[in-house]
Amino acid sequence: MVEEPDDNPYVRTPETSFDPIEDVHEDAAREQAERLREAIEYHDYRYYVANDPVIADRIYDALFDRLRKLEDAFDLDDENSPTRRVGGEPLDELETVDHVAPMLSLQSSGDPEEIREFDRRIREAVGDVDYSAEPKFDGLSVEVVYEDGVFDRAVTRGDGEAGEDVSANLKTVGSVPLRLSGAPDVLAVRGEVYMPRSGFQELNERRVERGDDPFANPRNAAAGTIRLLDPAAVADRPLEVFFYDVIETSATLRSQTEAVDLLRELGFRVDDETTVVDDAEGVLDYRDRLMDERADLEYEIDGVVAKVVDFETRERLGSTARHPRWAFAYKFPARTGETTVERIVVQVGRTGKLTPVALLDPVDVRGVTISRATLHNAAQVRELGVSEGTTVRIERAGDVIPEVAEVVDSEEPRSSGADDGGFAMPETCPVCGGRVAEEGEYHFCANASCPAQLKRSVQHFCSRDAMDIQGVGERAAEQLVEAGLVESVADLYDLDADDLIGMEGWGERSAENLLSELEGSRGVDLGTFLYALGIRHVGTERARALASAFPLEVLMDASAGALRDVEDVGPEVAEAVTAFFETPANVETVERLREAVRPERRADADGDELDGLTVVFTGSVPGYTRSELSDLLERHGASVTSSVSGATDYLVVGEDPGTRKREAAEREAVETLDPEAFEERLLSRIE
Ligand code: IVH
Repeated sequence: MVEEPDDNPYVRTPETSFDPIEDVHEDAAREQAERLREAIEYHDYRYYVANDPVIADRIYDALFDRLRKLEDAFDLDDENSPTRRVGGEPLDELETVDHVAPMLSLQSSGDPEEIREFDRRIREAVGDVDYSAEPKFDGLSVEVVYEDGVFDRAVTRGDGEAGEDVSANLKTVGSVPLRLSGAPDVLAVRGEVYMPRSGFQELNERRVERGDDPFANPRNAAAGTIRLLDPAAVADRPLEVFFYDVIETSATLRSQTEAVDLLRELGFRVDDETTVVDDAEGVLDYRDRLMDERADLEYEIDGVVAKVVDFETRERLGSTARHPRWAFAYKFPARTGETTVERIVVQVGRTGKLTPVALLDPVDVRGVTISRATLHNAAQVRELGVSEGTTVRIERAGDVIPEVAEVVDSEEPRSSGADDGGFAMPETCPVCGGRVAEEGEYHFCANASCPAQLKRSVQHFCSRDAMDIQGVGERAAEQLVEAGLVESVADLYDLDADDLIGMEGWGERSAENLLSELEGSRGVDLGTFLYALGIRHVGTERARALASAFPLEVLMDASAGALRDVEDVGPEVAEAVTAFFETPANVETVERLREAVRPERRADADGDELDGLTVVFTGSVPGYTRSELSDLLERHGASVTSSVSGATDYLVVGEDPGTRKREAAEREAVETLDPEAFEERLLSRIE
């Protein structure tokens, strides 16, 4: 527990009023900045670690704002000031740094007999012991070093000897202390960085809306985030840390209990599940209890760790080259299954992306039969060492798409490329034979009229958030393409009843329905139309932003530079848009569609009842898709944005909301509306 700072006027202040910056003398400014930092650090601790804030968010914001102004006006820069939490300048690369102490791995097993055996071995060697029982967090470990109580660096695991310096990124995590009070001169601690489940869901939701690929599970999301080169982007993502070990210190510590107490005293976030048990049975019970609670936890754990409590006993037990003899990870039975890879096939997605997929000997993974699992990209296949015939472990992480987690029978030499029988991406598209282009770690079929892409493009074009043409799902899209009726999405508007009735399962009624759906889709707004085109990285929100920035004909010729002036359009997105409109086949399709559909640019077209309001959504509002709501509100003058800031008027909290936006709303004193209040306060104003 961190003590409240004495005599600091900013700790329990109900109101704040400051002298104008111009009237403050430099010495007084320095003093005030220091008191503000101390107070803000304490408030960060109360908010992020203790979960028990002592001042209103509005006051916190005022303190923060004042500190920032003082730092700017008087050049009081300090790399460990709380103002740095918003993320500094982008980095060119992450530097490699040695660890304070090499990071060993843990002996692990899911077999209760093995933990009993571990306990027996220890008792034989050193007599009676107690164990610290802790969750085994499913994230990434970081070593954080403090010098004289000041944050010095944070390093990822890397190869165990050296890792990557992710200091700038870790500093954006509110619960990580930047300065410690009463700390030993030398202190290095270890913890696990993870992404809370709700934040993960919300991040993925945002990614899908933008047309970016969602992360497969919270662990991958955390791993991808901690290594970003732009700390400001990290600050925008929901990372958290639990600390569990002191790896080096000038203080005298005799046991894990003392280490954990020290961590808590200094203000590190330690999981309250951490406890002490006195034998193997205690570890087994602890593990069973956590397994029951697992689904309710905000973070993923994949087992428990038992560590001998007493440090002198640890010394006597020592370590092997790979792991300490005094610790053991007792894993949960996996949400995983083992099976063999029968074949690796390559699937072509809507954007032309080629994804290697393992076809498996079907295996039951906690009640679901899995017969295929994604391998993401060629680099992943190589790294995992998967080839046909290997035994692999399949994971349904976060209950999403199953993926190949690792190769189990790794005695065979790993193949490293095409020449030795390993997997290699095809040089031509497996569906159309078109040229395959490489982009980073991914491969794409360059032929926009590739039937595989075409089927999915048709399906996407007709989907609810796109042109909303009902009746064209996966099956119908396939039929239309396979029958040769649709060779480009523009052909949809040339269909006639006779064409359709000729296909299996189609009658007069269904044909008429489709034609009238197509008819009804004409005159759609430009944003929806752009989204329907399925340009890579252009989800509903970016499509809307592009539509309000440019008329279609201008957009088609826009340079990457001009595109980047649009909100939320970075180099990758700009590149995807220009590449799309530089492809002659796409231009032809768009020109034909333009004739047929006549998309309209109509921001604010239907009224101005909500003029000037900025609204953010989290969770779903029954009866609407997110893009229907955005459309509706925007057509009536509101702007709908994806993150909560001081400029937000309302946060609409629907079903299964995320925590991040709600926290931000609380911080920024933004009014929240449940779906009912939303209907009453906003929808009812629309005529
Ligand atoms: S102790 C020498 N405690 O598990 C052992 N590790 O296989 C040092 N992990 O990479 C690690 N929760 O990222 C320890 N409570 C916990 C842990 C934990 C998760 C991870 C850690 C490490 C891996 C070890």
